[in-house]
Amino acid sequence: MGNIEFMNRLEIVRNELDIILLNQESVTQRPEGYIHLYGVAQACSFLAIKRGLDVELCSIIGLLHDIYTYKFEYVKEHASLGAIEAENLLRDLELFTGEEIEIVRNAIYNHSDKKTKHDKYSELIKDADVLQNSLYESLFEVKHKKRLKKVLKKFGIKLKLKKDKFSKEKPVIDII
Ligand SMILES: [Fe+2]
Repeated sequence: MGNIEFMNRLEIVRNELDIILLNQESVTQRPEGYIHLYGVAQACSFLAIKRGLDVELCSIIGLLHDIYTYKFEYVKEHASLGAIEAENLLRDLELFTGEEIEIVRNAIYNHSDKKTKHDKYSELIKDADVLQNSLYESLFEVKHKKRLKKVLKKFGIKLKLKKDKFSKEKPVIDII
């Protein structure tokens, strides 16, 4: 796949996503969607480079993984419903193969189940999701500690957790 094609498809998906984010009823929620989805997409690209996976597809999985939550302001079952939403969006663009759409659909479907191990693309979006959340909210309680520790370890970063006065574990990061 050539570079120009790569840029175009990613840019087209971003444009589709922006339409959804800009149409959110809650104006105050709009920045949250941009920060989280674009942040996760960047984390996806970063992890994809490290793991030798398709960077473009991984970025798209990141952009679309919570699409249902932001489009319909509905969090429950957003993974399975979002998988269908993303599949339809990509199919309508007529720029992706059936195999590519299947990878994206599957990864989004699995992404909320952080405790189970799935295929490489599903694991990548789960890791990117956890990474973005912890980098954004670095002073708050760490969710999915085991997964975050594992991701950071691959980059030579050791995550230590210290309990604060409210008994919540907060990250203290050490470079190995
Ligand atoms: Fe997410």
